[in-house]
Order: sequence, then structure tokens, then C-alpha cells
Amino acid sequence: MGKKIAVLMGGKSAEKEISLMTGEQIFNALAKNGHNAVKVNLDENAWEKIKKENVDLVFIALHGRWGEDGTVQGMLDIMDIPYTGSGILASALGMNKLIAKKLFSYENINTPLFLAISKKDYKDENKLCLFFEEAKEKLGSPFVVKPVSEGSAIGINIVNNKGEFLEAAKKAFDFDNHILLEQFIKGKEVTVGILGNDDPVDFPVLEIVPKKDFYDYEAKYSPGGSEHIVPARISGSQQEKCRDFALRAHNALGCRVFSRVDLIVSEEGVYVLEVNTIPGMTEFSLYPEAAKAMGIEFSDLIERIIELSLQERKTGTKTPSLKN
Ligand SMILES: Nc1ncnc2c1ncn2[C@@H]1O[C@H](COP(=O)(O)OP(=O)(O)O)[C@@H](O)[C@H]1O
Ligand SMILES: [Mg+2]
Repeated sequence: MGKKIAVLMGGKSAEKEISLMTGEQIFNALAKNGHNAVKVNLDENAWEKIKKENVDLVFIALHGRWGEDGTVQGMLDIMDIPYTGSGILASALGMNKLIAKKLFSYENINTPLFLAISKKDYKDENKLCLFFEEAKEKLGSPFVVKPVSEGSAIGINIVNNKGEFLEAAKKAFDFDNHILLEQFIKGKEVTVGILGNDDPVDFPVLEIVPKKDFYDYEAKYSPGGSEHIVPARISGSQQEKCRDFALRAHNALGCRVFSRVDLIVSEEGVYVLEVNTIPGMTEFSLYPEAAKAMGIEFSDLIERIIELSLQERKTGTKTPSLKN
């Protein structure tokens, strides 16, 4: 039977535009599947609207902060309204690349070497120059500069020298009080979709090929900026490694229902970059495309997510505990 579902979208994060596209796509699929769907923009009136609509479920179609990071999940927990995807803790951990990488290291999940800088150090140019020297020594050159909590390749730059580093740090600090300096991994970019609660399944490894060999990550991730190949053109053992790391990374953060894990496959090994707890769901998005390669059409995928989410909210702990 059809359910009453609010699609929570928009908001004010840097990824608002993608959220609106994701929300639209989900809304259409829900209507097609016979649900009574209503779009709700994330603003201060959203909660009252959700309450008044007396919904069975909130489908969270938000990316980045204020939505993918546990904040909205916390509010819905307080209101006792079921919602899609991971709970508060996993969402917050997925949003914080620094803490996530520390957990990956603990779980022996390979991730690029890293250093972190906070904004108070940024004010001191001498200190910043020392960080540059330390990064060059520890991470090699070039290295990557990114905000700790952002998505969609926002604020990410690759730096070759001190001048570029100072510029990249300034840009990254526009988005966050903490930034990551990360070892640059040259290799094939891949992503693995995960679906499920206690025994999640992984989708075939999807390779992302930029149309041009450029280092502007934001351009690469805009529609048409890259091609997708499934299964990825990597060896059988590399596929295995990607799948193993992706599943373990998903579990290390305590994710539920679904996620998408970004990795880089180089000649030296496989590296996990991050876990996206609410992957993009637009028509050109990676997660639905990988699901399709597994024979799961978009509308069926949405139904699976609803089912798993309702099951999780009913039986799971609302804040998933971290597995050993
Ligand atoms: N350490 C790295 N080495 C090489 N490329 C990287 C590295 N970190 C990020 N990138 C590039 O930037 C993209 C986005 O980085 P990611 O860490 O996944 O952040 P987000 O997707 O949240 O913006 C990656 O898909 C990749 O193209
Ligand atoms: Mg990513």
C-alpha cells in the first residue's frame, strides 16, 4: 500500500543544487510507485509541515551539512518520525573526513596519508609554512588540500608548491574550520554502492573517467564532466579489495540502509577516500547507475531504501553502534 512520504530537500548547504535534483528524482519515483509524496524544503518551517502532514517516513534528499551530517536525523529522532538512511552518529562520522580516516586506520582500511590543520593555525603564516614543509615530507608532492566536512569535490585542490598551498588552504578554510592535507594518489577513481542493514550487499565497482585530464575536481563532478564504466577496468583482485574495503568502511562508521564509498585504485594499492551516507540520486548519479548494473531499477531501489529504513527505525538502535 502507498505510504505518505515527505521528500526533504534543498536547504542551505553548498550542495543544495544537487539536493534539489536528487529530491525531484525521488519524488517522481515515489509518485510512480503509488506513494503519496510531498516535497518539503529544509527551512525553519519544515518541521511543522512534516508534523502536519502526518507522514509515515521522511526521505532525506539532502547532501552535505544540515542533512547528511546527522543534524536532520537528530531532529527526526526527537520527533519520532522514521527517516531514510543512517542514524545520527554514522551520518556525522561520514561527514567528517578526518575522524572517518582515523577509524579506517584503526580498522586497517587503507586510506591516503594525511595531516590536519585548524583555522587558528591558519592565522599564523609561519606556522602554516611549517605545515607545508611537514606535509611535503610526510605526504610527498603534490598533495591534496580539502575541507574536513564538505562534499561534491567542493573546496578541493591539488598543490605542488608553497604558493599553491597557501591559496588552496585559504579556499578550503572558506568552507570549514578544519582542513585535511592528503597524500595524492594517482590512479583510477572508483566508487562502490552499498545497500542493506545487518548484511549489506555491494554493487559492482564503478569507474569514473574524467573527460579531460584536468585537476579541477568541481568541474569533473559536474554533469557531463566524466564518464562511468561498470565494472571498473581493474583486476579481479583489485575489485575484491575495493569491495572488501567499501563494505568494511561502511560498517566501520556504523552506516545503515545505504551508502557509497569513494576509492582510488593505484599500482601500489587500493585507498578509501570517504563514505557518502546520502549518495546523489539524480539521473546522472553514480549510486543508481551501479544499482542498475546489478539489475535494480531506480524505482525498485527507492522501494528497497524505504523498506530497509522502516525496518531499521523499528528494530535498530536509533544511533547505530559501531561494530568491532
Ligand atoms: N588523496 C587524493 N588523491 C587523488 N585525488 C583525490 C584525493 N582526494 C580527493 N581526490 C579527488 O577529489 C575528489 C573528491 O574527493 P573526496 O575526498 O571524495 O571528497 P568529496 O567527494 O566529499 O568532495 C575525488 O573523487 C578525487 O577525484
Ligand atoms: Mg567523494
